[in-house]
Amino acid sequence: MKKYYLTTPLYYVNYKPHIGHAYTTLAADVLARYLKSQGKKVFFQTGTDEHGGNIEKTAAANNVSPQKWADDVALEFKEMWKTLGIEYDYFIRTTDEKHKAQVQAIFERMLEQGDIYLGNYAGLYCSSCENFLDESELIEGKCPVHKKEPEKINEESYFFKLSKYEKPLLEHYKSHPGFLSPDYRANEIIRFVERGLNDISVSRTKVSWGIPVKSNPKHTIYVWIDALTNYITGPGFELGKDNESFNEIWPADLHLMGKEIYRFHAVIWPAMLMALGLPLPKKVYAHGWWTVEGEKMSKSRGNVIDPRDLVSEYGLDPFRYFIFREVPFGQDGDFSAEAFKRRYNGELANDLGNLFSRTVNMINKYLDSSMPDKPENSQLFNQLLESKKDIEKDMEELQFSSALDRIWKNISLLNREVDLKKPWELAKTDKEALKKFLNEMVWCLRLVSSWISPFMPSTAARMLMHLSVSRQPEEPKKIEPLFPRKQ
Ligand code: MSP
Repeated sequence: MKKYYLTTPLYYVNYKPHIGHAYTTLAADVLARYLKSQGKKVFFQTGTDEHGGNIEKTAAANNVSPQKWADDVALEFKEMWKTLGIEYDYFIRTTDEKHKAQVQAIFERMLEQGDIYLGNYAGLYCSSCENFLDESELIEGKCPVHKKEPEKINEESYFFKLSKYEKPLLEHYKSHPGFLSPDYRANEIIRFVERGLNDISVSRTKVSWGIPVKSNPKHTIYVWIDALTNYITGPGFELGKDNESFNEIWPADLHLMGKEIYRFHAVIWPAMLMALGLPLPKKVYAHGWWTVEGEKMSKSRGNVIDPRDLVSEYGLDPFRYFIFREVPFGQDGDFSAEAFKRRYNGELANDLGNLFSRTVNMINKYLDSSMPDKPENSQLFNQLLESKKDIEKDMEELQFSSALDRIWKNISLLNREVDLKKPWELAKTDKEALKKFLNEMVWCLRLVSSWISPFMPSTAARMLMHLSVSRQPEEPKKIEPLFPRKQ
């Protein structure tokens, strides 16, 4: 079975990981966990983008070598992913020797083929984006993403013949609907390519922290060409080899990223793959951006959110829940501490937490210690099952907030049902009816636990433990709340 291959961008190591990086990586993790629960084999890759002038400057400002700087920050990313419960399969660093060798080999191959040629680049460059900008893209003379004036560059440079791939790209977009996702992002890319593609500069002579061009080492390879190639070097692509294990993974099923780097993934990367004669990824999906309390997140504003702070205050699962419930995946969203607390107390502590404690406490009290079989013809359970297909469809389409909405509608339904059935009264009047009802609740809560599991794996596991077949008779009668209320 071909593995489902999904990737995050490789994060620059010039800054410590923040909520933005966490967002993409968690989305990949949620999807990977979901797919695995459906029996799929998954290869989930993330990593760090460690070359380029920007990192060279940051390291120099901190009086360390770029390699040492990169080593430290890459470690910090790995630690962050551990804290956030990310189960990636491979962490690639662009300073890995194998990666570097392949990037060099691929560059030489493209030179031989005429897809790369030597010329001179005169133009603008935003070092924060590591991107060559056209005059027409500037807003008041500044880079539209970083609001900084770009540098003027005039130097010998290699070029990649992007123009050659204009038509093939347009044809690919047309014949592969869904390649550009979400679909509202497709138009912008198609218009951009239709306006005509220029060849792009792919080497620098003024940046030494990069992979040297093998046949002309005074040039280093443009950091984006280096970084994009990770998607094939990670799963082990080697030029000129039979690539047996690579072919079990490639093509990628999904490249995930933020909207600001969509063009690199939707235009340049597929063109590079066409030049290499490799199949294209199935989907490139760009999500939106987080602002914080209505403002752009930035070092200078001092409002950069470190997920570790939220995790230590609220716990990991509530954080994982919040960022996917709050904003439809794909669109921009705003992070507000108040909204987080409101959802925590309302949807987690009240809706799910209370439902769970009051039900499990009754289950522990009134049901035998071995869990009952699945109830036959339970209207309640069947009603829940009705949303299963829609939840699965949402998950497959990365509509995480919609999946969570549906799950929480079911949680409300269960809460209503408990209020209506009043099991605490049944305990006095009709023990058989009580058992039947609690039995149904066990199965409904198991279903809920399986649905929330990709988002909140430890909560789901805790729920299941209390609802499992072999409960320990000595289990304490009062269970700890899943989500203690916050003042
Ligand atoms: N190194 C490049 C990517 C190379 S991929 C071959 C890069 N790195 S980055 O460190 O700047 O990370 C960018 C990614 O971080 C975005 O695409 C997005 O996934 C995530 N985010 C960074 N800030 C973000 C927000 N404020 N909101 C949401 N996600 C953002 O670009």
